[in-house]
Amino acid sequence: MEKPTKIAAPRGTLGVLTPGMGAVSTTFMAGVELVRQKQALPVGSLTQMGTIRLGKRTDARSPKIKDFIKLAKLDQMVFGGWDIFPDSSYEAASKAGVLDAHHLAVVKTFLSKIKPMTAAFDREYVKMLDGKHVKKGKTKYDIALQLKDDIANFKKKNECARLVMLWCGSTEVFMKPDEVHSTAAKFEEAMKSNHPAIAPSMLYAWAAITSGIAYGNGAPNLTVDIPAMHELAAEHNVPIAGKDFKTGQTLLKTVLAPAFKARMLGLNGWFSTNILGNRDGEVLEDPGSFKTKEESKLGALEYILQPHLYPDLYKKIHHKVRINYYPPRGDNKEGWDNIDIFGWLGYPMQIKVDFLCRDSILAAPIVLDLVLFLDLAQRAGMRGIQEWLSFYFKSPMTAPQLYPEHDLFIQLMKLKNTLRWMMGEDLITHLGQEYYD
Ligand SMILES: NC(=O)c1ccc[n+]([C@@H]2O[C@H](COP(=O)([O-])OP(=O)(O)OC[C@H]3O[C@@H](n4cnc5c(N)ncnc54)[C@H](O)[C@@H]3O)[C@@H](O)[C@H]2O)c1
Repeated sequence: MEKPTKIAAPRGTLGVLTPGMGAVSTTFMAGVELVRQKQALPVGSLTQMGTIRLGKRTDARSPKIKDFIKLAKLDQMVFGGWDIFPDSSYEAASKAGVLDAHHLAVVKTFLSKIKPMTAAFDREYVKMLDGKHVKKGKTKYDIALQLKDDIANFKKKNECARLVMLWCGSTEVFMKPDEVHSTAAKFEEAMKSNHPAIAPSMLYAWAAITSGIAYGNGAPNLTVDIPAMHELAAEHNVPIAGKDFKTGQTLLKTVLAPAFKARMLGLNGWFSTNILGNRDGEVLEDPGSFKTKEESKLGALEYILQPHLYPDLYKKIHHKVRINYYPPRGDNKEGWDNIDIFGWLGYPMQIKVDFLCRDSILAAPIVLDLVLFLDLAQRAGMRGIQEWLSFYFKSPMTAPQLYPEHDLFIQLMKLKNTLRWMMGEDLITHLGQEYYD
């Protein structure tokens, strides 16, 4: 695509819509408000805390990203969304148990006003959930049109200049691309005939894109990773990105695996197991939803290690991922990794990683960054798949002929170079010969 010319500072209100108002979404909203009230720092957010080097190392130019590029400001944001439960964001955040009583008290009035709209939902796609706060309609198409009305009403009521939609809903059952996903016209027909290959998340995405709104996918659901959505995104000039927030275990995997490959250390196996007790964990108890997550978590190693190029090192990897629902831990997931590597002359070694993390605390800053960068992309005239946002995803979406880039530091370089390119700055190659001339 052509280089964006001048990206003006965003004016007016940015509406943030999240299908799914559970642990991640409410931790994000509460966090933005706490930061706005100067009660906490936006730790984990590259847009808020990160810097970007410009020019030579000797130039000493490293502005904050948010000062370098014209991003929407936190106090320009308003929030809305949908859920199958009628709880306000305050009730949902209290039940999710991520934030402590002190933080919840500070944002109680703010969160209590954010009430979910009725959801597009079907138990066939998330078997472990059953909520009554759902839309009714004869066909999936009727429901999608209702979502479009919701978007238009939200925009009008909140006087939004622009909107972004980011899926923070549950993981749906595993789905493969189907013939009805191949074109926008077939997709629309399939909605009208209630075809089973149309999942509820796709109705939100269709409603967003055809309303000219950027869509990001925080779950591993197929949703916008199909030709019909790519076609619509191009037609409506809408950026799309996905899928599945890269937060805990996979974040570390995409840091460690590139290190092994960089040093030509071999790998025999990687066993990853998790216990978590939030609603996401409960949903993933269903084998259909787990399969979607498993596929998403398994992909990274294969792409990073490239066993076809290094058969002696990576041809026979035993890679296993397990997730167990264990209520006592709530949102505080424990992710264990046992990594069997081998070195010089084939001698084996082991690495153990035990990450006692907080799922939604890791995910919330990603939501914020994605919202701001998707809004930026749209203002810059960038449409379709935003591969430069791979940094944030476990299963980055790419053009069909490309393999995804999973290495966290290549992803970061790509992201920052995209920002430099957007602002007309020199790209950084890390060659550095000029310092020795
Ligand atoms: N927290 C993380 O670290 C992380 C990382 C990667 C991906 N994710 C994904 O993010 C998503 C949200 O995670 P969470 O911890 O907030 O889960 P959660 O269960 O707390 O929240 C999800 C919400 O989505 C709602 N929902 C389900 N189907 C819906 C529909 N069709 N329309 C509207 N609402 C719907 C549920 O009722 C629930 O309130 C999950 O898909 C999860 O797999 C989370």
